[in-house]
Amino acid sequence: MTQVVDGKKLAEEVRAEVRERVAKLEDGPPCLSAVLVGENPASGIYVRNKRRACEATGIRSIQIDLPESTSEASLVKEVERLNADPSVHGILVQLPLPDGINPYRVTGAIRPEKDIDGLHPENVGKLVAGLPGLYPNTPLGILHILDRFEVPIEGRSAVVIGRSEIVGKPTAFLLLHRHATVTLCHSRTRDLPERVREADILVAAVGRAKMVQGSWIKPGSAVIDVGMNRVDGKLCGDVDFDGALGTAAVLTPVPGGVGLMTVAMLLRNTVRAFELQHGVTDA
Ligand code: GUN
Repeated sequence: MTQVVDGKKLAEEVRAEVRERVAKLEDGPPCLSAVLVGENPASGIYVRNKRRACEATGIRSIQIDLPESTSEASLVKEVERLNADPSVHGILVQLPLPDGINPYRVTGAIRPEKDIDGLHPENVGKLVAGLPGLYPNTPLGILHILDRFEVPIEGRSAVVIGRSEIVGKPTAFLLLHRHATVTLCHSRTRDLPERVREADILVAAVGRAKMVQGSWIKPGSAVIDVGMNRVDGKLCGDVDFDGALGTAAVLTPVPGGVGLMTVAMLLRNTVRAFELQHGVTDA
Protein backbone atom coordinates (compact mmCIF):
# COMPACT_ATOMS: atom_id res chain seq x y z
CA MET A 1 0.00 0.00 0.00
CA THR A 2 1.36 3.36 -1.00
CA GLN A 3 0.31 6.58 0.71
CA VAL A 4 0.29 9.26 -1.98
CA VAL A 5 1.15 12.65 -0.49
CA ASP A 6 -1.54 15.28 -0.94
CA GLY A 7 0.68 18.35 -1.26
CA LYS A 8 -2.34 20.62 -1.53
CA LYS A 9 -3.71 19.48 1.82
CA LEU A 10 -0.32 19.69 3.56
CA ALA A 11 0.34 23.14 2.09
CA GLU A 12 -3.06 24.33 3.27
CA GLU A 13 -2.24 23.16 6.82
CA VAL A 14 0.98 25.19 6.76
CA ARG A 15 -0.81 28.20 5.29
CA ALA A 16 -3.38 28.07 8.10
CA GLU A 17 -0.56 28.05 10.68
CA VAL A 18 1.19 30.96 8.92
CA ARG A 19 -2.08 32.90 8.69
CA GLU A 20 -2.46 32.62 12.47
CA ARG A 21 1.14 33.63 13.12
CA VAL A 22 0.82 36.64 10.79
CA ALA A 23 -2.40 37.77 12.46
CA LYS A 24 -0.65 37.81 15.86
CA LEU A 25 2.33 39.94 14.77
CA GLU A 26 2.27 43.34 16.40
CA ASP A 27 4.23 45.31 13.80
CA GLY A 28 3.03 43.27 10.83
CA PRO A 29 2.27 42.27 8.26
CA PRO A 30 5.53 40.94 6.85
CA CYS A 31 6.38 41.89 3.28
CA LEU A 32 8.05 39.75 0.63
CA SER A 33 9.73 41.37 -2.34
CA ALA A 34 10.09 39.13 -5.40
CA VAL A 35 12.55 40.17 -8.09
CA LEU A 36 11.98 38.73 -11.56
CA VAL A 37 14.60 39.36 -14.23
CA GLY A 38 13.73 38.70 -17.88
CA GLU A 39 10.89 36.80 -19.46
CA ASN A 40 11.34 33.13 -18.41
CA PRO A 41 7.70 31.94 -18.54
CA ALA A 42 8.12 29.24 -15.86
CA SER A 43 9.74 31.78 -13.50
CA GLY A 44 6.84 34.15 -14.11
CA ILE A 45 4.37 31.43 -13.07
CA TYR A 46 6.41 30.48 -9.97
CA VAL A 47 6.58 34.09 -8.79
CA ARG A 48 2.86 34.58 -9.38
CA ASN A 49 2.09 31.43 -7.33
CA LYS A 50 4.36 32.62 -4.52
CA ARG A 51 2.69 36.05 -4.45
CA ARG A 52 -0.80 34.52 -4.44
CA ALA A 53 0.16 32.30 -1.51
CA CYS A 54 1.44 35.38 0.36
CA GLU A 55 -1.80 37.24 -0.18
CA ALA A 56 -3.82 34.23 1.00
CA THR A 57 -2.02 34.30 4.35
CA GLY A 58 -1.94 38.04 4.98
CA ILE A 59 1.70 38.53 3.92
CA ARG A 60 2.21 41.60 1.74
CA SER A 61 4.07 41.02 -1.50
CA ILE A 62 5.62 43.27 -4.09
CA GLN A 63 7.12 42.30 -7.43
CA ILE A 64 9.99 44.00 -9.16
CA ASP A 65 10.22 43.22 -12.86
CA LEU A 66 13.54 43.93 -14.49
CA PRO A 67 14.38 43.51 -18.19
CA GLU A 68 16.44 40.63 -19.60
CA SER A 69 19.18 43.18 -20.37
CA THR A 70 19.66 44.07 -16.66
CA SER A 71 23.33 44.07 -15.65
CA GLU A 72 24.67 42.24 -12.62
CA ALA A 73 25.67 45.59 -11.07
CA SER A 74 22.20 47.10 -11.40
CA LEU A 75 20.56 43.93 -10.04
CA VAL A 76 22.88 44.01 -7.04
CA LYS A 77 22.00 47.70 -6.58
CA GLU A 78 18.29 46.81 -6.56
CA VAL A 79 18.95 44.11 -3.94
CA GLU A 80 20.85 46.65 -1.82
CA ARG A 81 17.94 49.06 -2.06
CA LEU A 82 15.61 46.31 -0.77
CA ASN A 83 18.12 45.42 1.97
CA ALA A 84 17.91 49.01 3.21
CA ASP A 85 14.11 49.26 3.01
CA PRO A 86 12.70 48.52 6.49
CA SER A 87 9.24 47.80 5.03
CA VAL A 88 10.66 44.79 3.11
CA HIS A 89 11.33 41.69 5.24
CA GLY A 90 12.00 38.98 2.67
CA ILE A 91 13.87 39.21 -0.64
CA LEU A 92 13.51 36.58 -3.32
CA VAL A 93 15.44 36.79 -6.58
CA GLN A 94 13.88 34.20 -8.85
CA LEU A 95 16.38 31.83 -10.48
CA PRO A 96 17.64 31.13 -13.09
CA LEU A 97 19.05 34.54 -13.95
CA PRO A 98 19.90 35.59 -17.51
CA ASP A 99 23.33 34.63 -18.90
CA GLY A 100 26.01 37.05 -17.82
CA ILE A 101 24.70 37.48 -14.27
CA ASN A 102 26.53 35.44 -11.63
CA PRO A 103 23.79 34.14 -9.30
CA TYR A 104 26.27 33.85 -6.39
CA ARG A 105 27.06 37.57 -6.62
CA VAL A 106 23.36 38.33 -6.39
CA THR A 107 22.35 35.91 -3.61
CA GLY A 108 25.49 36.95 -1.73
CA ALA A 109 24.29 40.57 -1.84
CA ILE A 110 21.01 39.81 -0.02
CA ARG A 111 21.07 40.70 3.66
CA PRO A 112 21.15 37.29 5.44
CA GLU A 113 18.14 38.18 7.65
CA LYS A 114 16.07 38.85 4.50
CA ASP A 115 17.37 35.85 2.55
CA ILE A 116 14.18 33.76 2.51
CA ASP A 117 15.66 31.30 -0.05
CA GLY A 118 18.55 30.53 2.32
CA LEU A 119 21.19 30.98 -0.39
CA HIS A 120 23.44 33.60 1.20
CA PRO A 121 26.80 32.06 2.25
CA GLU A 122 26.08 32.93 5.89
CA ASN A 123 22.85 30.92 5.82
CA VAL A 124 24.51 28.11 3.85
CA GLY A 125 27.21 27.97 6.52
CA LYS A 126 24.63 27.89 9.30
CA LEU A 127 22.82 25.03 7.59
CA VAL A 128 26.03 23.05 7.20
CA ALA A 129 26.94 23.68 10.84
CA GLY A 130 23.43 22.88 12.06
CA LEU A 131 22.91 26.39 13.47
CA PRO A 132 19.57 28.25 13.27
CA GLY A 133 19.23 30.31 10.11
CA LEU A 134 17.10 30.70 7.02
CA TYR A 135 17.23 27.48 5.00
CA PRO A 136 16.08 26.77 1.41
CA ASN A 137 12.36 26.13 1.05
CA THR A 138 12.22 22.92 -0.97
CA PRO A 139 14.42 20.97 1.50
CA LEU A 140 12.29 22.30 4.38
CA GLY A 141 9.20 21.14 2.50
CA ILE A 142 10.72 17.68 2.00
CA LEU A 143 11.47 17.32 5.72
CA HIS A 144 7.98 18.56 6.53
CA ILE A 145 6.45 15.83 4.34
CA LEU A 146 8.61 13.12 5.95
CA ASP A 147 7.64 14.28 9.44
CA ARG A 148 3.97 14.65 8.60
CA PHE A 149 3.94 11.02 7.38
CA GLU A 150 5.99 9.94 10.42
CA VAL A 151 8.76 8.54 8.25
CA PRO A 152 11.64 7.50 10.54
CA ILE A 153 14.87 9.31 9.60
CA GLU A 154 17.38 8.56 12.36
CA GLY A 155 19.71 5.73 11.39
CA ARG A 156 17.97 5.20 8.06
CA SER A 157 19.59 5.22 4.65
CA ALA A 158 18.73 8.38 2.67
CA VAL A 159 19.72 8.75 -0.96
CA VAL A 160 19.53 12.19 -2.57
CA ILE A 161 19.95 12.36 -6.34
CA GLY A 162 21.07 15.80 -7.50
CA ARG A 163 23.65 18.13 -5.95
CA SER A 164 22.15 21.58 -6.59
CA GLU A 165 22.69 24.40 -4.10
CA ILE A 166 18.96 24.92 -3.70
CA VAL A 167 17.75 21.31 -3.30
CA GLY A 168 20.25 18.43 -3.31
CA LYS A 169 22.99 19.75 -1.02
CA PRO A 170 20.75 21.39 1.61
CA THR A 171 18.42 18.36 1.68
CA ALA A 172 21.42 16.09 2.30
CA PHE A 173 22.50 18.27 5.27
CA LEU A 174 19.01 18.47 6.78
CA LEU A 175 18.75 14.67 6.61
CA LEU A 176 22.24 14.30 8.06
CA HIS A 177 21.35 16.58 10.98
CA ARG A 178 18.40 14.27 11.63
CA HIS A 179 20.90 11.39 11.81
CA ALA A 180 20.19 9.69 8.49
CA THR A 181 23.07 7.99 6.69
CA VAL A 182 23.11 10.13 3.57
CA THR A 183 24.38 9.29 0.09
CA LEU A 184 24.47 12.25 -2.29
CA CYS A 185 24.32 10.96 -5.88
CA HIS A 186 24.75 12.91 -9.12
CA SER A 187 25.39 12.56 -12.83
CA ARG A 188 28.78 10.86 -12.32
CA THR A 189 27.55 8.33 -9.76
CA ARG A 190 28.20 4.75 -10.79
CA ASP A 191 25.58 2.07 -10.15
CA LEU A 192 22.82 4.53 -9.37
CA PRO A 193 20.09 1.83 -9.37
CA GLU A 194 22.09 -0.08 -6.72
CA ARG A 195 22.33 3.00 -4.53
CA VAL A 196 18.62 3.72 -4.90
CA ARG A 197 17.70 0.13 -4.00
CA GLU A 198 19.25 0.70 -0.54
CA ALA A 199 17.30 3.90 0.12
CA ASP A 200 14.77 3.98 2.95
CA ILE A 201 14.31 7.61 1.92
CA LEU A 202 14.81 8.65 -1.68
CA VAL A 203 14.87 12.27 -2.83
CA ALA A 204 15.04 12.69 -6.60
CA ALA A 205 16.06 16.17 -7.74
CA VAL A 206 17.80 15.75 -11.08
CA GLY A 207 15.46 17.22 -13.65
CA ARG A 208 15.23 14.15 -15.91
CA ALA A 209 11.74 12.82 -16.58
CA LYS A 210 10.98 9.41 -15.07
CA MET A 211 14.69 8.65 -14.67
CA VAL A 212 14.15 6.64 -11.48
CA GLN A 213 12.46 3.40 -12.45
CA GLY A 214 9.93 1.55 -10.32
CA SER A 215 12.15 -1.53 -10.12
CA TRP A 216 14.85 0.55 -8.34
CA ILE A 217 12.58 1.49 -5.43
CA LYS A 218 13.09 -0.26 -2.09
CA PRO A 219 9.81 -1.74 -0.84
CA GLY A 220 8.38 0.30 2.03
CA SER A 221 10.54 3.37 1.35
CA ALA A 222 9.56 7.05 1.23
CA VAL A 223 10.02 8.51 -2.25
CA ILE A 224 10.10 12.28 -2.65
CA ASP A 225 10.05 13.50 -6.23
CA VAL A 226 11.33 17.05 -6.74
CA GLY A 227 11.44 16.82 -10.56
CA MET A 228 9.55 19.38 -12.63
CA ASN A 229 9.91 18.15 -16.19
CA ARG A 230 7.75 19.03 -19.12
CA VAL A 231 7.07 16.15 -21.51
CA ASP A 232 4.71 16.84 -24.42
CA GLY A 233 3.39 19.83 -22.49
CA LYS A 234 2.65 17.71 -19.41
CA LEU A 235 4.43 18.14 -16.08
CA CYS A 236 6.10 15.00 -14.74
CA GLY A 237 8.66 14.13 -12.08
CA ASP A 238 12.04 12.39 -11.97
CA VAL A 239 10.42 9.17 -10.72
CA ASP A 240 8.26 6.80 -12.73
CA PHE A 241 5.21 7.36 -10.52
CA ASP A 242 3.17 4.39 -11.78
CA GLY A 243 6.21 2.13 -11.41
CA ALA A 244 6.80 3.24 -7.79
CA LEU A 245 3.13 2.98 -6.81
CA GLY A 246 2.57 -0.18 -4.78
CA THR A 247 6.27 -0.45 -3.81
CA ALA A 248 6.97 2.81 -1.96
CA ALA A 249 5.19 3.33 1.36
CA VAL A 250 5.04 7.11 0.83
CA LEU A 251 5.19 8.74 -2.60
CA THR A 252 4.86 12.35 -3.75
CA PRO A 253 3.13 13.08 -7.05
CA VAL A 254 4.16 15.67 -9.64
CA PRO A 255 2.35 17.99 -9.85
CA GLY A 256 0.63 18.25 -6.48
CA GLY A 257 3.52 17.22 -4.21
CA VAL A 258 6.75 18.97 -3.26
CA GLY A 259 6.18 22.11 -5.38
CA LEU A 260 3.25 23.20 -3.24
CA MET A 261 5.30 22.60 -0.08
CA THR A 262 8.09 24.81 -1.40
CA VAL A 263 5.70 27.73 -1.62
CA ALA A 264 4.26 26.94 1.83
CA MET A 265 7.74 26.94 3.40
CA LEU A 266 8.53 30.25 1.71
CA LEU A 267 5.65 31.75 3.70
CA ARG A 268 7.06 30.34 6.94
CA ASN A 269 10.51 31.65 6.06
CA THR A 270 9.09 35.12 5.37
CA VAL A 271 7.48 35.22 8.82
CA ARG A 272 10.72 33.93 10.31
CA ALA A 273 12.66 36.68 8.51
CA PHE A 274 10.24 39.27 9.87
CA GLU A 275 10.79 37.91 13.39
CA LEU A 276 14.58 37.96 12.98
CA GLN A 277 14.39 41.63 12.01
CA HIS A 278 12.15 42.38 14.99
CA GLY A 279 14.42 40.72 17.50
CA VAL A 280 12.42 37.51 18.00
CA THR A 281 15.14 34.89 18.15
CA ASP A 282 13.53 31.80 19.58
CA ALA A 283 10.75 31.16 17.04
N1 GUN B 1 14.01 28.70 -9.13
C1 GUN B 1 13.57 27.42 -8.95
N2 GUN B 1 13.30 27.20 -7.66
C2 GUN B 1 13.57 28.35 -7.00
C3 GUN B 1 13.49 28.74 -5.64
O1 GUN B 1 13.10 27.98 -4.74
N3 GUN B 1 13.87 30.02 -5.38
C4 GUN B 1 14.30 30.86 -6.33
N4 GUN B 1 14.66 32.09 -5.97
N5 GUN B 1 14.40 30.54 -7.60
C5 GUN B 1 14.03 29.29 -7.93
